[in-house]
Amino acid sequence: MNAHKIADGIFCLHADIQTTDLFEGIWPIPQGVSLNAYLVRGEKTALIDLFRDWTEAPKQIEGELASIGASFSSVDYLILNHLEPDHTGWLREFREKNPKAEILSTAKGINLVKSFYKIESGLRAVKDGDTLDLGAGKVLSFYETPNIHWPETMISFDAGSGTLFPCDAFGSFGSLGDRVFDDDFTAEEHVFFEKETLRYYANIVSSFSVFVEKAIQKLEGLSIKCVAPSHGIVWRKKPELIIDRYRKYASYAKNSGEREITVIWGSMYGNTKAGVDAVIRGIEAEGVPYAIRRVPDENVSYVLADAYKSSALVLAMPTYEYAMFPPMAYVLDIFRRKHIFGKKVLRIGSWGWVGGAKKEYDAIVEGLKWTSLEPLEWAGYPTEAELAALEERGKELARMVKA
Ligand code: FEO
Repeated sequence: MNAHKIADGIFCLHADIQTTDLFEGIWPIPQGVSLNAYLVRGEKTALIDLFRDWTEAPKQIEGELASIGASFSSVDYLILNHLEPDHTGWLREFREKNPKAEILSTAKGINLVKSFYKIESGLRAVKDGDTLDLGAGKVLSFYETPNIHWPETMISFDAGSGTLFPCDAFGSFGSLGDRVFDDDFTAEEHVFFEKETLRYYANIVSSFSVFVEKAIQKLEGLSIKCVAPSHGIVWRKKPELIIDRYRKYASYAKNSGEREITVIWGSMYGNTKAGVDAVIRGIEAEGVPYAIRRVPDENVSYVLADAYKSSALVLAMPTYEYAMFPPMAYVLDIFRRKHIFGKKVLRIGSWGWVGGAKKEYDAIVEGLKWTSLEPLEWAGYPTEAELAALEERGKELARMVKA
């Protein structure tokens, strides 16, 4: 593939990753992910962000550099906005090809260059407001935006073209093919990327939403004409769209999400499933939108995305060996780690010879500031009276969402 020109002297390079590997070793990427890097050329040349050696990414990027008459060895500066190895894993190989390029990052980023890659020379720590003059009118400025989602993160900006290089911020899952710009994709493709942006945000960034808000505030004075993240679409037509999308996602951590419900359920022999169906009848009667995710059949990555966006949850699980259904325990542990705060929650489930999920459940969700409806548990298959009560609980939850 060729490099894509953003502005005079500024190019997007990207490698599409199609793999059965999990992103961060946790999150599935069945539609791939892109690793984007950027070349900024004045009299000197800067490469912004790198990549890891993953499904031949270095070869893909090398070819794109060649398409604009550049190479790894022609780079004068390597700017690392973020040190997670999806953007830096190839650093030692880069250094071997190019021993002279100066590596710029925040002070914390430089420490990670040393500890991860054992590179000790040719390093420059930059701080908030520092600039790098590449000549020919190209000046990059740097803004420390810590904790998106690592402590060393920063954002680079080319004021001349208004191009923002935020690395993980404003990124998404999903590979790009031979197009990179927002105006290259159809409405249908944008629907796909919106879902994959939410999933990326919920999976990778959601615990750090307060820092996302701080970073967006920090960028407010900049005249941003293009948002060029290191995963996903490059936003040149509507850069405000992706910034607003991230602002909205960050707000879910405080205002608990949209007026919709995610029903998360597991069932061993259909007894809990019967209760789920009754609750859904109640939700539907109140006309509140809902998503359904079954565990463990559906990966927690998707469960997390829906749950993060919804203001209410139904958690339906059988008792298993005197405790919670283990796949649900895993989901709730992820919710705790990812700060799925402030939800309205209904817990239901069937037990066999004795209950026991409550104690474990209460310990896991403690601290999540959830508003819980009275849980409803029953022995074996639900009776008609229990089914009616479950339907009523579904209505009650839906009415809370609408209130
Ligand atoms: Fe895309 Fe946090 O690395």
